[in-house]
Parts: sequence; C-alpha cells; structure tokens
Amino acid sequence: MKLFIPGPTQVAPEILAEMAKPAIGHRTAECARLWRESRDGLQKLMHTKNEVMILTAPASAFMEAAIRNTVKEKSLHLICGAFSKRWFDIAKSTGVDAIAVEKKTGQGFSADDLRSALNECGTVDAVTVVHNETSTGVTNPVQDYAEVLKDFPDTLLLVDTVSSMSGMPVYVDKWGIDVCLFGVQKCMALPAGVAIASASPRALERAATIEYRGWFLDFLRLAKSNEKEQSPTTPSTAHLYALTAQLKRIFSEGIEARWKRHYEMAAYVRNWAKSHGYEMFPDAGYCSDTVSCIARGTGPDFVPVLDALKEEGVLVSNGYGDLKGKTFRIGHLGEHTLDDMRQLTEQFDSILEPVLN
Ligand SMILES: Cc1ncc(COP(=O)(O)O)c(C=O)c1O
Repeated sequence: MKLFIPGPTQVAPEILAEMAKPAIGHRTAECARLWRESRDGLQKLMHTKNEVMILTAPASAFMEAAIRNTVKEKSLHLICGAFSKRWFDIAKSTGVDAIAVEKKTGQGFSADDLRSALNECGTVDAVTVVHNETSTGVTNPVQDYAEVLKDFPDTLLLVDTVSSMSGMPVYVDKWGIDVCLFGVQKCMALPAGVAIASASPRALERAATIEYRGWFLDFLRLAKSNEKEQSPTTPSTAHLYALTAQLKRIFSEGIEARWKRHYEMAAYVRNWAKSHGYEMFPDAGYCSDTVSCIARGTGPDFVPVLDALKEEGVLVSNGYGDLKGKTFRIGHLGEHTLDDMRQLTEQFDSILEPVLN
C-alpha cells in the first residue's frame, strides 16, 4: 500500500534495513553513541540549544509530559482541530485548570488571537498550540507568538510540531518555544514509535517546582539520564539506528531543501485541487505545506475516488471526524516528491475521468 495519508508515511528501504540490525545492550558504548548522535542531530534539526529528550513512545506521551512538567495550576489551550483538542483533554485529565479557546475548524490563531485569549483568561502557566493541525491542514503562525509572550513572562509556550517538524520551518530558540514536541511517523519518515521533545531552561526550572511530575514522563529524570547519554528505561535500539541514519539522510538533503520540497508539493496539490473546483479547507494564509485538507467545493464527489484508489493500493485520507465526506486529506510529507504528487493526481484524475466527461 502506498501511503498518502498524513502519516504514517513511506519509509526509505535503507532506513528500514537499519531497524533489522541486531539488538544491542542499552547500557553499552554503542547505544550511548546512538543516543548522542540522535540528540546532536535533533538539536540541529530543531534549531535549538535546549535539552532534547527521546522516548520510545507515541508523540502523545510528550503532550502529557509537557503538561505534567510545566503546569502547576492553570493552562490555556488554542483549539482548532482534533489534536489541539486532545492536548486540552490531556491537560484536564491531569487535574489542572485547563482553559480552552476554540476556533471553527479551518481557522487558525493569529498572534492577536493569542493576545486576546491571554488577556481574557488571566495568568496561566503555559499555553499549548499545535503548529500544524493535521486534522484540518491548518498551520498556526507560531513564529509570531514570541512577541506576544514577552508581555506574559510567566507563561511558557508549548508547541506540537508532530506534522511539521522537518517538513516546514520550525526555529525552536528563535520562536521562543519552551517545549517543542513531535513524533517521527510524519515528515521524519520513520516508523511510528519515537517521541521527541525539547525543553528550555525555563521549562526545566518550572519542572523543578512541581512535586508530582510522575516518573516515566519526568523531564528532570530524562535530562539527568541524558548526561550519561542513556535512556532511563530500555529504548527501542532498532528505532535509534533508524533515527540516526534518517537524520544523516535529512542533513544530506539539507533542511532548507527539505522544506522547499514540501512547499513545492503543497503548491502543486493546491493548484490541482483548484483546477477541479475543490477548495482548500483552511482559511487563506493558514494552509499547511505538509497536509492538504481539501473541501468538496464545486468539485466532483471524492469519496468513491478514495475507495477506488484504495483498491489500487493507494491510501489517501478521508476527512477527520465530522469532516468525513466533506473534506479529504493528502499527506505530502517525508520522502514524497513532486513526481509522486504528479502520479497520485494522475491516478485520481483517471478514476474521475468517466465522471468528468
Ligand atoms: C498534530 C498531531 N499531534 C499529535 C498527534 C498524536 O501522535 P501520536 O499518535 O504519535 O501520539 C498526531 C497524530 O497524528 C498529530 O497529527
């Protein structure tokens, strides 16, 4: 099956081969080398000098960790889709006073929206935002938030970059991101199973003031273990081999070249959609470069096309939740190329041909 869903995505054969290497002890020099190389590479990828932590877990683990380690009493959550809503639900489940500010699906949060929300809800320990809302194809302008947060010095900025990291520009330090988290099954093009997060000195200081942070998700335990280039628990060494190899692959392509490739695929897909009478679901200026969420508009019914594509071994996503049947999503991320997009849309068009003619 060829995956054009918004993750998981295709993994290069040589990266899969890395995962077949024999198991190694997790307290060996070889594992320490993998840990060190991964963390060094991740700092470079994320444009940060902050502490970088790795868990063999899904990205949601770090969504929960971010709350447990930085929110003492109250958190604010910018919700514009399923994953930003999940972060709010996670916060509520930990017992903190979680406040939601919600936008209609398809809309994002401007810096002014963030300022109004912060002004309205009083002092909060942290604000959460999903950079790239995979469920709606909306990218939030996180690059503009640091300026606003200068006026709220006790509020930490927690950002989910699960479906943007390595596919779109993210500058953790320049953008003032205190906790930046992601998984590896999207633009990183690895099999799911590794979660990554950076924590700023401020985030680590905050963690130190919170007594019950739990054990597995404790930032300070993870940071201390990093000093020995080790995981506190037994990591998947297969994933560490794949991660170090994939980071090398990404740097040999070049981070900016990778962003550009994603941008070009998105531009191509948007033009193709428009030429069929489809519309981009996100508001203008909020469209993602990694996931195109396409609304029916005046275009032909796409549901039978998605079914036919599946029969042909190609998976494109229907809309998420309530958006099923109203939108569909093409993931153009990870190792995909413009040629893959051309082939996909040609295949889509050939199924549509009898309808269009
Ligand atoms: C934006 C975003 N955040 C969080 C998640 C959750 O990731 P995981 O399933 O690895 O926990 C996803 C998964 O698709 C996502 O797209």
